[in-house]
Amino acid sequence: MDRFHRTEFVSKSSSHRYASMALGNSAPIDDIDAAAASFERLARGEAPGANPIYARLHNETVSRFEEAMASVEGMESAVAFSSGMASVTAVMMAASCGKSNVVAIRPLYGGTDHLLCDGLCGLEVRWAEAEEVQEVVDDQTALVLAETPANPTLDLVDLEALVEAAGSVPVVIDNTFATPVLQNPADFGVDLVLHSASKYIGGHGDVIGGVVVCGEEWAKRLRRIRIATGGLMHPMAAYLLRRGLSTLPVRMEACQDTAMQLVLRLLEHPAVGKVYYPGLGDESATDLVSRQMKGPGAMVSFEVEDFDAARSVMEEVELITPAVSLGSTDSLIQHPASLTHRLVDEEVRDQCGVSQRLLRMSVGLEHVEDLWGDLERALGSRRQSGRSQSREPWVERISRVSGS
Ligand SMILES: Cc1ncc(COP(=O)(O)O)c(C=O)c1O
Repeated sequence: MDRFHRTEFVSKSSSHRYASMALGNSAPIDDIDAAAASFERLARGEAPGANPIYARLHNETVSRFEEAMASVEGMESAVAFSSGMASVTAVMMAASCGKSNVVAIRPLYGGTDHLLCDGLCGLEVRWAEAEEVQEVVDDQTALVLAETPANPTLDLVDLEALVEAAGSVPVVIDNTFATPVLQNPADFGVDLVLHSASKYIGGHGDVIGGVVVCGEEWAKRLRRIRIATGGLMHPMAAYLLRRGLSTLPVRMEACQDTAMQLVLRLLEHPAVGKVYYPGLGDESATDLVSRQMKGPGAMVSFEVEDFDAARSVMEEVELITPAVSLGSTDSLIQHPASLTHRLVDEEVRDQCGVSQRLLRMSVGLEHVEDLWGDLERALGSRRQSGRSQSREPWVERISRVSGS
């Protein structure tokens, strides 16, 4: 079975092709002139000089991870950073030169939303709906930024339409939730693709890292920023992340299968209100998944009666871990309004659907019956009024998209 072109993906990220492990923070210098020339090239943001000199300038193991990421996203280059947030910050710096605003679509991960609102990057933020982007961008716009599927409501943005609306303004997509297995934004003309590699790419909840995949001109700027600001990825993290890539397709497939089964059961549970999952809704939502994704993924959000009910689920789960982060082998559940999106203004949270009733779950590799048993017990017998979602037409449509 090759549902996500698994063979191609694994060969592109092969541990044999990308094997190597360099951990030292500096390299011996045999020839001072050659080392000086190498230093200059690296400081200009060019890909490896002959001698890596110092690990803040270049590291072979990090470079191998970057090559694999560029390959699986179908882009020219990639630049890895110490975290997803360091990647977002570097992209803002790289794009800002002389520009004054950034156009962004909500919801975004709470940390990214906070970074933009806080003004730390020195750019005014213009929040827009996807349909408004064309009106809002101008010659002072450094970037258009979106997540699809978005954290935590799994909203989708039509990539092709977004790129068209942005015109000559570069578009950056945070592809953390979809992963390169389920979505390659570059296929739709997106300029920069960003990942919190701490999530699905690492896949075991034990690494923090970020990566920006892009063309070589952007990569040069990003490397210069990394060298100057020092937000580099540790080689051990790069090694684990490259290794994580090899199993990403099978992990995504297994987690997605389980997530879909849980969605179907959540839709019928009396204690559950609205369920959020890519493509769930009318025909156009499923159609968008089929146009730009290879499947809806393994993140599921759902509403319960109120904050007390949400707190009770977090307290009652035993198999599922009540924790932030996502994309690990073990399932995690969290309350975005209290945790990942706490720094987002309450009014904004409510407008984006990040209410006190919302729980976000990252579905892992446990058996579906064990997960459902845990969830069902934690949900208890509370009833949720006002349910309006029906599962029947969706089940058939979404099964066609994901091939299950
Ligand atoms: C969609 C998304 N982007 C970026 C980040 C930030 O990544 P990191 O925690 O690696 O800095 C996160 C973190 O949860 C995220 O969910």
